[in-house]
Amino acid sequence: MEASEPKFSVAIDGPSGAGKSTLARAAAKELNFVYVDTGAIYRTAALYILRKGVEPGDSAAVAALLPEIGITMAYDGGGLQRMLLNGEDVTDLIRTQEISMTASAVSAYPAVRAFLLEMQRDMAKKYNVIMDGRDIGTVVLPDAAVKIFLTASSEARARRRWLELEQRGTPKDFDVLLRETRERDENDMNRAAAPLRPAEDAVVLDTTEINFQESLERIIEIIRERTGL
Ligand code: DC
Repeated sequence: MEASEPKFSVAIDGPSGAGKSTLARAAAKELNFVYVDTGAIYRTAALYILRKGVEPGDSAAVAALLPEIGITMAYDGGGLQRMLLNGEDVTDLIRTQEISMTASAVSAYPAVRAFLLEMQRDMAKKYNVIMDGRDIGTVVLPDAAVKIFLTASSEARARRRWLELEQRGTPKDFDVLLRETRERDENDMNRAAAPLRPAEDAVVLDTTEINFQESLERIIEIIRERTGL
């Protein structure tokens, strides 16, 4: 793909556990777009902060670390996004619950968001992207051709996470997962900087009652309708 061709951007936002990343990845594969998981960028920054032993609630200490954090994204042969932290591949280290909670906490700081903004926009300048996150349609790519706000009830999201952990052989209590899901919603929706909310021109898709395949078909249909692809 030539860098100078006009690019299509698809923004998929929504709360944690709504299935954004699996659906966005599958839609990107089907439409031959580059999938950008922006949560992974926040998670990579969170890993650095945790490793340094800095308290995520200490905004000044977190901001002071930012110049030391070098994040790059790379794509492997299968088109999967790899995350590099100061050159180290940390892709497999950023999926823990501790990282989830830390990423949610530090992503509330405007300094952190500003620090990570340009690398997200750069991707959309270079490629046709399907980018998922919390503020893609509202802040990162306000001119995206397609905006989808993907949601589901907190119970449905916690249940999916519960099932995923069961299948992985690392089970966790459902009530704890539900509490953590709600805590992250609280953080992500009520922060002052780029809170989670649907863009005015977003299509809201609630997946509580529909399965993966139906959700995927609906997303592809919305993208095709809006882009003519
Ligand atoms: O999508 P995720 O669960 O991997 O994201 C981890 C955290 O990062 C999430 O709780 C909030 C934050 N985040 C954000 O603030 N803005 C984004 N565009 C993506 C993630």
